Amino acid sequence: MFDVVTFGSATRDIFVQSKEFKLIDSPEFLTGKALAVAAGGKIYVEELVFATGGGGTNCAVTFARQGLKVAYVGLIGNDSGGLEVFRELNDIGVNCNFIKTTAKIQTPYSIVLSAPNKDRSILVYEGASHFLSLADIPFEAIKHARWFYLSGLAGESAKTFEPIINFAATNKIKIAINPGHDQLTKDLDILRGLLNKIDVLLVNQEEASLITDVDFKNEGELFKRFDELVSGIAVMSKGKEGVAVSDGRKIYRAGIPESGYVDRTGSGDAFGSGFVAMIIHGGQIPEAIQLGTANATATIQHLGAKKGLLKKEDWGEWEKVQVEIEKL
Ligand SMILES: Nc1ncnc2c1ncn2[C@@H]1O[C@H](COP(=O)(O)OP(=O)(O)OP(=O)(O)O)[C@@H](O)[C@H]1O
Ligand SMILES: [Mg+2]
Repeated sequence: MFDVVTFGSATRDIFVQSKEFKLIDSPEFLTGKALAVAAGGKIYVEELVFATGGGGTNCAVTFARQGLKVAYVGLIGNDSGGLEVFRELNDIGVNCNFIKTTAKIQTPYSIVLSAPNKDRSILVYEGASHFLSLADIPFEAIKHARWFYLSGLAGESAKTFEPIINFAATNKIKIAINPGHDQLTKDLDILRGLLNKIDVLLVNQEEASLITDVDFKNEGELFKRFDELVSGIAVMSKGKEGVAVSDGRKIYRAGIPESGYVDRTGSGDAFGSGFVAMIIHGGQIPEAIQLGTANATATIQHLGAKKGLLKKEDWGEWEKVQVEIEKL
């Protein structure tokens, strides 16, 4: 029996770090800033790191490191990137029996352009993770799992999000979700309708506002709405501001340790999976916040979304964060 089965993307990531990447103000981009290099020039890079990423596999690795019996369900291409994903998960102890391969489409690739101490932009080739179908999911083999953890499912794969949750609810499998772009935009009404089946909802501030229609700065109102919608625990991560969590009775808040960071790719996955790993182990919300935060802090010190993820009993080099509790 699996403690947890994860769903979501599997990617090959290449981190390219260069001091020559400039951050310039530009009204032409949504963020008001551009990561820029000289057109026609040759740009030298200091670091080139090959890693694997994707929400489904990043979280699976946390669970394996935390001593849980975990399987990953997903689709990869029949190519070297897919092989690399498979090999890494297998080596770490994630059950890979339910990974399907396709010859029709390549494994997703992300090219992370990282400007040290500034920002990063990611070039995304979406690939096979977008094409998981219900027929690829081994429902019979995973029906005795204790938990499902779903991160974003996009493209064609988005159609499996609702059936997976309904299957889990029917089979008394606990459910944690970290919804992705498709769930939060075109399928937002479907997502809202599923929240009463969810044990742990994990979102960042912008995502929390999209779901609740409440400005994330109005945290009291926002959590009131979450408490109406979500049957279990609602978690809102706030980047370098830390996190706020509600279980419908209390609100828990914590900041982050003063660590600085190298590259924050994968912080959301590290936080979410660390939080849920502690809950699966029978921990309470304050400890879950502490493990999620420690796991995120540990991985953002490295290039690579899985690098640095914590092993069981290892809390990393920073102090555990203090958790403040407010009764509702
Ligand atoms: N700049 C930062 N410095 C330190 N810790 C950070 C930083 N950004 C994120 N974290 C840690 O990671 C957690 C999750 O981050 P965030 O709220 O940005 O999630 P996210 O937007 O879902 O991230 P992702 O882009 O990976 O999906 C935070 O609660 C914090 O613990
Ligand atoms: Mg996220």
